[in-house]
Amino acid sequence: MPKIMLLGPPGSGKGTQARVIKEDFGIPVIATGDLLRKNIAERTALGRAAGSYMEAGGLVPDYLVVDLFVSRLAEDDTKSGWLLDGFPRTVPQADALDKLLEERGEKLERVFLLEVPKGLLIRRITGRRVCPVCNSVYHIDSMPPKEPGICDFDGAALITRDDDDEETAENRIDIYNELTSPLVDYYESRGVLTKIDGTIGTERVEQKIRATLA
Ligand code: AP5
Repeated sequence: MPKIMLLGPPGSGKGTQARVIKEDFGIPVIATGDLLRKNIAERTALGRAAGSYMEAGGLVPDYLVVDLFVSRLAEDDTKSGWLLDGFPRTVPQADALDKLLEERGEKLERVFLLEVPKGLLIRRITGRRVCPVCNSVYHIDSMPPKEPGICDFDGAALITRDDDDEETAENRIDIYNELTSPLVDYYESRGVLTKIDGTIGTERVEQKIRATLA
């Protein structure tokens, strides 16, 4: 089973691909953004600490996210494979991941970088709608639900994420460029990075990922 990671700026399609790959390979997705939003919804101490960073489009401090990740990776379903979405997001997080995997006798096999230019990222983020019940992701133009504003799977009213307004999206992209993009060199120098044009349709992106893993 693959042990892989999706890397890319906000709106590049990581979550969309993660859901498909999860089904294809039967591996769990560890998405720190989803885990943090769950903590915010449940008003946990972590959720209260993380909320203000996320609302402003900033990164949650490394020590909080690393602890959250360590607990999730320790669960039983991660023994044979996993897909990381949104972690690591800084060089210290990547170092922490290395150390953790070494202790587990595992290694990160492949990192897929989804490349999308900024203008398209903003259009994708501001047009995104999500289901608050099952977390399905839609886009008002490129991936609309069958009935406007309603989730295809459970009939819940779709919402816009708190951090999906244009100003916050710009900030998130700037922070990606400053703090997360150094991971491109980090993984390229280890020979595990595969760059994928993320502007093509979701099915073609999925095909490219599958072909690399075959
Ligand atoms: P997180 O939830 O991880 O958000 P993100 O990385 O900013 O990524 P997004 O969810 O915005 O985009 P995506 O790449 O998943 O795109 P999607 O598939 O939805 O993190 C949120 C926040 O949590 C962070 O800002 C930070 O505060 C905090 N956080 C999380 N992890 C952290 C960490 N490790 N350290 C510190 N802080 C952390 O697609 C976007 C839209 O485009 C959708 O509408 C979709 O339908 C559409 N779309 C996707 N692919 C295509 C395609 N190929 N063609 C056309 N449309 C497409």
